[in-house]
Amino acid sequence: MMTHAPDPTDVAAAYDRWSQVYDTDENRTRDLDAAMLRRQDFDLRGRDVLEIGCGTGKNTAWLAGRARSVVAVDFSAGMLAQAQRRVAAPHVRFVRHDVREPWPLADASVDLVIGNLVLEHVETLDDVFAQAFRVLRDGGECYFCELHPFRQMMGKQARFAHLETGETVRVAAFLHDVSDYVNAAIRAGLRVVAVHEWRDETPASAAAIPRLFALRCRREPR
Ligand SMILES: C[S@@+](CC[C@H](N)C(=O)[O-])C[C@H]1O[C@@H](n2cnc3c(N)ncnc32)[C@H](O)[C@@H]1O
Repeated sequence: MMTHAPDPTDVAAAYDRWSQVYDTDENRTRDLDAAMLRRQDFDLRGRDVLEIGCGTGKNTAWLAGRARSVVAVDFSAGMLAQAQRRVAAPHVRFVRHDVREPWPLADASVDLVIGNLVLEHVETLDDVFAQAFRVLRDGGECYFCELHPFRQMMGKQARFAHLETGETVRVAAFLHDVSDYVNAAIRAGLRVVAVHEWRDETPASAAAIPRLFALRCRREPR
């Protein structure tokens, strides 16, 4: 049987393939991201949340257990299908959408915008932060957690083994420095409230290059 290598620059198609094994592959970045989100002190009771790049719903499930409503957006039909299997609840709505395009939400309609391991695939951060500012209510927060750029400089990148050939598929990604994220947030009018750099939680990782970078920002009341 002929198999064709997926085009790594077609990020949605690459994730369609990865969706089959995304949850079962060993993936320390995915797991550390999940652990760190669960330590954030978000009070989501009665709150409306937008999650961009929800993937297979690893974090959507956690948000759904706490928030009044969740809109979870992704442009990979395969990843969304897995997420819909995982999280079926009337207050959670999945939307297939490319977050590089204007987001399908009204101005000032959510209390939290969250994105995990998605912005490495987005070249222009300004558009994302401008959309976050637009859809956030006064006092609302956004939280983005990404593969640390130092790791990217070491050659790390979202990747998976092709199911049929076993070949490693590296999904197209862009390098954004920590300052690129922070300055994009500031340019959008958001106030940065926390910057985190997280390592694996093993003694051997104490002096290692951080695995994750995360940013929390607030839309201040007008
Ligand atoms: C590494 S996965 C992370 C999934 C999930 N947030 C998690 O933490 O496990 C990245 C996700 O972002 C999605 N994604 C990447 N670029 C996107 C875009 N421009 N618009 C919408 N989704 C995008 C991919 O389809 C994929 O599901």
